[in-house]
Amino acid sequence: SSRKKIIITIDGWSSCGKSTLAKQLAKELNYAYIDSGAMYRAITLYFLRNHVDWTDEKEVHEALAQIQLEFHYNEAHRQSEIFLNGENVEYVIRDLVVAEKVSDVAALREVREFAVRQQQEMGKKKGIVMDGRDIGTVVFPAAELKIFMTADNAIRVERRFRELYEKNPNITIDEVKANLEMRDYIDSHREVSPLRQAADAIVLDNSHIGMEQQLKMALNWVYERL
Ligand code: DC
Repeated sequence: SSRKKIIITIDGWSSCGKSTLAKQLAKELNYAYIDSGAMYRAITLYFLRNHVDWTDEKEVHEALAQIQLEFHYNEAHRQSEIFLNGENVEYVIRDLVVAEKVSDVAALREVREFAVRQQQEMGKKKGIVMDGRDIGTVVFPAAELKIFMTADNAIRVERRFRELYEKNPNITIDEVKANLEMRDYIDSHREVSPLRQAADAIVLDNSHIGMEQQLKMALNWVYERL
């Protein structure tokens, strides 16, 4: 029936357009959208601002105890935005300064436990679309629909470059490329919940398909499961 609510997970490489698809799906289905990467970015921002030495387990433990993350729907922007200890950090966390460190922070076991616990809590009532790296494998292994997104490297670099260039015209394509490659490497090689395609995930390569077509495909997969 149409009342049935499911969990949709979207995992994949950096800058594949996961959040674009996730937001569109959430809107179409009237589901909540949670950007799990924003949580790792907000934690990283807190660590950077407070000079937390994240190679020190005790410092990490103490810092996490000071961190409160919340998502609030912003009516004007028509999207859910992340708050770090009451401050809207949705935009500052997209900075390259944060992007350069986030994969290291996201590799820490205690940081992941902290984030995953909250993510699982948010999925309790279902009716949620969550994107990230380990959502279909670790956070919601029983999700009804798992999508694994991928796209050609050059296309991903180009997309991310255009996005960042709008905010910072000093950025170079080489910087963006280096950051993407580094994050993909760290995200897929870390010990704790590395980026992996779940065995039951559907692969969506959007190198050569448009956003509308991609949304249609995904919605069909959803309707098959309702
Ligand atoms: O999706 P994003 O680029 O905003 O994610 C930022 C970083 O956070 C990414 O390099 C890896 C990490 N991440 C993760 O380890 N697990 C997730 N579920 C989501 C993001």
